[in-house]
Amino acid sequence: MCGIVGYVGSKKIGSRLIEGLKRLEYRGYDSSGIAAISEKQLQFTKKVGRVKVLEQSTPKAYENATTGICHTRWATHGAVSEANAHPHMSSDGHFALVHNGVIENYTQIKSFLTTKGYTFASETDSETLVNLIAYHYDKEPEVKDGSRFLESVRKSLLHVEGTFGIAVISELYPDELVCARRGSPLIIGVGKEEHLIASDVNAITHCTQNVVYLNDNEIVHLNKDDFSISTISNVSVDAVIQTVDWDTSEAELGSFKHFMEKEIFEQPNALENGMRGRFSDDGSTAFFGGLNLSPQELQQVDRLVFIACGTAWHACLIAEYLIERYARIPVEVEYASEFRYRNAPLDKNTLIIAISQSGETIDTLSALKEAKRKGYKTLSINNSVGSSIARECDGGIYQHAGPEIGVASTKAFTSQVMLCSMLALYFGRSRNLSYADGCEIVRALKQLPELTKKTLETTEQVQKIAKKYAHYEDCLFLGRQMMFPIALEGALKLKEISYIHAEGYPAAEMKHGPIALISEQCPSVFLTMNGEMFQKTLANIKEIKARKGAVICIAPEKCDLPKDAVDDLIQIPDAHDILLPILMSIPVQLLSYYIALERGCDVDKPRNLAKSVTVE
Ligand code: AGP
Ligand code: GLU
Repeated sequence: MCGIVGYVGSKKIGSRLIEGLKRLEYRGYDSSGIAAISEKQLQFTKKVGRVKVLEQSTPKAYENATTGICHTRWATHGAVSEANAHPHMSSDGHFALVHNGVIENYTQIKSFLTTKGYTFASETDSETLVNLIAYHYDKEPEVKDGSRFLESVRKSLLHVEGTFGIAVISELYPDELVCARRGSPLIIGVGKEEHLIASDVNAITHCTQNVVYLNDNEIVHLNKDDFSISTISNVSVDAVIQTVDWDTSEAELGSFKHFMEKEIFEQPNALENGMRGRFSDDGSTAFFGGLNLSPQELQQVDRLVFIACGTAWHACLIAEYLIERYARIPVEVEYASEFRYRNAPLDKNTLIIAISQSGETIDTLSALKEAKRKGYKTLSINNSVGSSIARECDGGIYQHAGPEIGVASTKAFTSQVMLCSMLALYFGRSRNLSYADGCEIVRALKQLPELTKKTLETTEQVQKIAKKYAHYEDCLFLGRQMMFPIALEGALKLKEISYIHAEGYPAAEMKHGPIALISEQCPSVFLTMNGEMFQKTLANIKEIKARKGAVICIAPEKCDLPKDAVDDLIQIPDAHDILLPILMSIPVQLLSYYIALERGCDVDKPRNLAKSVTVE
């Protein structure tokens, strides 16, 4: 969601902070700001709009500062305005704070502080916290050292309900920084005579590869040479420094126009990386190093519950089809945000699997914690090493798809679907799936990167089709069985980046309501498979055509579609059924991408959206 970067060190902040902030731009935001201790004074600049605007308006003098914090905001409390942008200053001018999250009891805190004479310049929940810090600071005049700064932040946080990732600086302690987290991610970057803090590892890898991932309810006091971690309730914590093994160029655009385009074309590699080293020597099954499930535990599992949000939830729906088909284990798929509050009765042999690209989605993380609290074993499929979800689970599978920057998920989705297919194979082989069937699936999966490359050859054709359909304001995506989740994903992709109203439905369900929308003004995208469902899908296509609706059909080459049955046909390579959801996704992604471009939309930063949703 919002982004935080902070610096305390012997070097000048120069462009370090703004550079870090730019690396967080993809997360989605509406305004940004920076505060630095420049010429012994706390100074700040805030702007509505892109980080570039902030960069152009930041006084050059800040570059000489050696302590600073900055922020990109995704408004939750109060309009998008300069006054509401972070950093926020305490009304006595001594402290500056950036905050990611929501302070649920801010109205009570604000009323209390108002009676003590504190004033507020914004409508945000965050500003109450910086004044609360100033209030606690003033209460302890006898303490003279830096611990007074730390303790005033700690005491304030003891009164906060809600979520926070915060960083605080003070002109009274020009060479120190205090940060803390609960529910929102925060990472320390450990450099030589310098420390950085950030909400995303991406924002600091240009300065250091050595990082410490903070846990919930931890608070950190940093200066250039040292840092100490403790819990908010004051128990000291040992720091574990890890090395980020990312190639930072992976997070750069290269020759592509957009991250979404780059990530669509990275899919053959992302898929290959995700399956590397994960097939058994006898070629009949998959295995995963980090599942932490003994063969006995594996046998005992009699139900799987998948939890996720958005695109990752669509990947879970495909997992349901595949695991039920190949492993015969009952699967349920839940929106994480609903599961968390539903109090669903679960059997003790239920395994909970969370899917999340970012590993920081608060709804998924909270649902996972709730499942753990009830004693269930939890796993995750996740693309961000060291993320909160990865650390919270008992075991998991890393996607190794490389950083996904575009807000619209593409390569992370296909990689999740592939890992779900491999999980279905793994569970299947531990039960009734035969050696021969296992080998057939492994052979098919190994062809996936090559077939994905081939499917990307549809790009030019899809681009032409996109031009033809870009002016419509409504669109349906329809498919049966495993194509139904792809229909949902196609509709989500189109609406999030082109702002066209789109709905995904099981093709047969269309006649139970959505068919009322069909007219010359509402085209449909059919995702068609060979096999027993083909004739039935064809009948659904005819129902649309009979009502003057245009039909774009995506189908495998061997699909026997009568000539003129559809208006536009995109053919993907023939492949084993298990690969079709992935191959089918590619023209679906390309279609949304090119339609959005035709409509002049900012595909990497769609309006109102954030890459990683860290508020409920
Ligand atoms: C995908 O295109 C979306 N922007 C969104 O639905 C996303 O998949 C969802 O927020 C879940 O994110 P996660 O995978 O990082 O948990
Ligand atoms: N709740 C804060 C605000 O509305 C922080 C939002 C964010 O996480 O960006 O300013």
